[in-house]
Amino acid sequence: MLVYLNGEFVSREQAAVPVEDRGFLFGDGVYEVIRAVNGRFFTAHEHLARMEEGLAAIGMRLPGGMTRQGVLEIAERLLRENSLTEGHATIYLQVTRGAAPRTHFFPSPPVEPTLYLTAAPFTVPEEVVARGVSAITAPDVRWSRCNLKTLNLLANVLAKQSAVEQGATEAIFVRDGVITEGASTNVFVVVDGKIRTFPVCNYILSGVTRGVVIELAAELGIPLIERPVRVEEISRAEEIFLTGTTTDVLAVVEVDGLQVGTGRPGAISTALGGALAERMGQVPASAAR
Ligand SMILES: Cc1ncc(COP(=O)(O)O)c(C=O)c1O
Repeated sequence: MLVYLNGEFVSREQAAVPVEDRGFLFGDGVYEVIRAVNGRFFTAHEHLARMEEGLAAIGMRLPGGMTRQGVLEIAERLLRENSLTEGHATIYLQVTRGAAPRTHFFPSPPVEPTLYLTAAPFTVPEEVVARGVSAITAPDVRWSRCNLKTLNLLANVLAKQSAVEQGATEAIFVRDGVITEGASTNVFVVVDGKIRTFPVCNYILSGVTRGVVIELAAELGIPLIERPVRVEEISRAEEIFLTGTTTDVLAVVEVDGLQVGTGRPGAISTALGGALAERMGQVPASAAR
């Protein structure tokens, strides 16, 4: 597998960063994951815009005058050279503040940021999508800048591990009695025939897929409001679903061991999943059968 690191395309085995890299020492950086279908990126500019906003918010920039277009060209070359231009793939992109002697404050003078990109094959787990998944709830113990896609993912990692240990796929964070988002997804809940999701603010990541799904719901005439869902409302939810770049639209059919709705993916999540697949340029799993 060929990867990109600081201006060079090298094999993954050869790619190495100094131990003083602030990504390693502090999680001081941001990342993105972009989906590609048949060699075409899906919503790449939304991901890169979010990355630029994240970089600006933490006083960082891309290295050496690198532009959005430059990043996309690297990503395209990674797809081509790793034979990932057919079917699904993902690009992982990470920028850290660079390598410098360890101090909490920023290196002064600034050092060149570290830029790392890698590509990987991706398979849509069609059987899982058709069955739906289970989730647990977990206290949202994260900081109050969850809108930034930073490398500091320890709370997410611990919540996801807790889910896996309980045989579940996702941990749904609960802050002050309301659902915020999943450990690596946004969460939508259908109550009284209306989709509800936590509004964009500093307590969630403004998911790119979330944005697309909100647009698709409007196109399909499905009512949706950005209003928090209280944890007690889960018991009367008709449907719950997750969204994300590597999650698409994924129905949650059980939360904390209790069945959601009919216990099967509902009509709304199935319709939105199909519409998202179509938008992505992929044949929806239901139509392929
Ligand atoms: C905490 C969190 N929320 C939501 C998402 C979904 O965002 P997107 O649709 O942009 O992948 C992610 C994706 O990694 C995430 O980590």
